[in-house]
Amino acid sequence: MTLLDDGDLAIETRGLRKTYRSVRGTSVGVEGLDLRVPVGGVHGFLGPNGSGKTTTIRMLLGLIRPDRGTAAIFGHPVPKHLPDVVGRVGAIVESPKFFPAFSARRNLSLLADGIGTPRSRVDAVIEEVGLTGRAKDKYRTYSLGMKQRLAIAATLLKDPDLLIFDEPTNGLDPAGIREVRQTMRSLADQGKTVLVSSHILAEVEQIADTVSIVARGRLVAAGRVADLIGEGASTRSVRVRVAPEDVTIATSVLETGGLLVRREHDALLVDGAGDAAQVNRTLGERGVWVQELTPLHADLESVFLGLTQHETPGGHTHRGKRRKRGGPPPEPGHAAAPAARPEPTTEVAS
Ligand SMILES: Nc1ncnc2c1ncn2[C@@H]1O[C@H](COP(=O)(O)OP(=O)(O)O)[C@@H](O)[C@H]1O
Ligand SMILES: [Mg+2]
Repeated sequence: MTLLDDGDLAIETRGLRKTYRSVRGTSVGVEGLDLRVPVGGVHGFLGPNGSGKTTTIRMLLGLIRPDRGTAAIFGHPVPKHLPDVVGRVGAIVESPKFFPAFSARRNLSLLADGIGTPRSRVDAVIEEVGLTGRAKDKYRTYSLGMKQRLAIAATLLKDPDLLIFDEPTNGLDPAGIREVRQTMRSLADQGKTVLVSSHILAEVEQIADTVSIVARGRLVAAGRVADLIGEGASTRSVRVRVAPEDVTIATSVLETGGLLVRREHDALLVDGAGDAAQVNRTLGERGVWVQELTPLHADLESVFLGLTQHETPGGHTHRGKRRKRGGPPPEPGHAAAPAARPEPTTEVAS
């Protein structure tokens, strides 16, 4: 696996470790995690449930203390120097809460007042998450995707450079997932760094530039998505379908060109083809016309599953009897979390 290059890092942790102790035993939240998130782009922080993603994020935001190891945000050691950098960080860690009977605009205006951000920012962040047309409607009339986009808008009030979203697509329907994904992508395209955690690879694969994959509180892979799935590598395969009478000639043409050809049912798999167009040209020049030409992408899902599927959550050592998972209470869904009073969604806002 390609490790991320040295260079400017938005987040760097070294040997980060956190154990949770209770009367029932000790459970390992994070076990010596080295996380490197480059500046700019979307970084997917991936791992099955219980692999330590939330624990890591909470340590980064100074919400819990690591037992061991170091963490830095934009080079500032945290939690010690968090105050120096907190203004550059926006985060959604738990389900944000808004007044259901207030509009997006009014909810955000209250938050802006609370953190001393000029109200003029409110319309700008509403625009950024694409809620302008609905800004005056009551929060309770919003779809889940819109609610989550409003939560993202709240993190943008202070115009942070780094956004940390812990499983922001949890509980959303496909349309909501797409909306949130597009919002995160566009933030990264504006030059912000977005760290987004998920236990569902497919939810971030399409928008992540780089990923870190964790299992049992440890890093198991990191790198650019394209590298992890071998895209662009010369090892990429192409599936070629030609007329049955052309199979033999096609095979010999491609083999003569130095390519490795395998039969797969009625198609040919050309390994190391690199560029599909080149395969097409080589065959066309010899009068063999291609009926189908499909570049085969290694699937990040299979990389992910291969690295994590045998992992059970956490690294528990138990005292006494078997017990249920000693995790935090389940994160409430948005719909189930009507608010009595708005709380800043940016846990690090104050
Ligand atoms: N407050 C807590 N008390 C005890 N164990 C916890 C607590 N929070 C997390 N854990 C344990 O730490 C491990 C990592 O949890 P977590 O960071 O929530 O993982 P993820 O966010 O990847 O699902 C799990 O085994 C979980 O049960
Ligand atoms: Mg979590």
